[in-house]
Amino acid sequence: MKILIINGPNLNLLGKREEGIYGSVSFDDYFAILQSKFSADNIEYYQSNHEGDIIDMLHKAGFGDADGIVLNAGAYTHTSIAISDAIRAIKAPVIEVHISNVSAREEYRHKSYIAPSCIGTITGFGLDSYRLAIEALKAR
Ligand code: DQA
Repeated sequence: MKILIINGPNLNLLGKREEGIYGSVSFDDYFAILQSKFSADNIEYYQSNHEGDIIDMLHKAGFGDADGIVLNAGAYTHTSIAISDAIRAIKAPVIEVHISNVSAREEYRHKSYIAPSCIGTITGFGLDSYRLAIEALKAR
């Protein structure tokens, strides 16, 4: 399968950002582990701090050859109707992921604008949330 992981704002800082919440492993290091675990699949990774760039990538992958998309939209999760609309518009299925358990955090993180557009949500399992999302796409 071809699966694209899209990470939104501030997720380029994983490993050095609020380590008590997000851990001390960089996404590059974790991505290498994911790629070796799913070596039979084509797993790609894109990160942007810009809402429009995330939407452009959703369009490109979602109407391209991606079989599924794993999206951690970061704080845009709680604000972006535009990303939600993009997910609805594309053909590829999208799974929403979060490293932290957003339901156990501040109230403004409880609302996800993108959840209703996704096939499902995985939240709170640390970086393992990404592996679980890939397993879910593969099991479909
Ligand atoms: C996050 C949770 C969001 O609320 C936050 O803004 C992030 C990271 C997570 O993976 O836990 O940037 O998406």
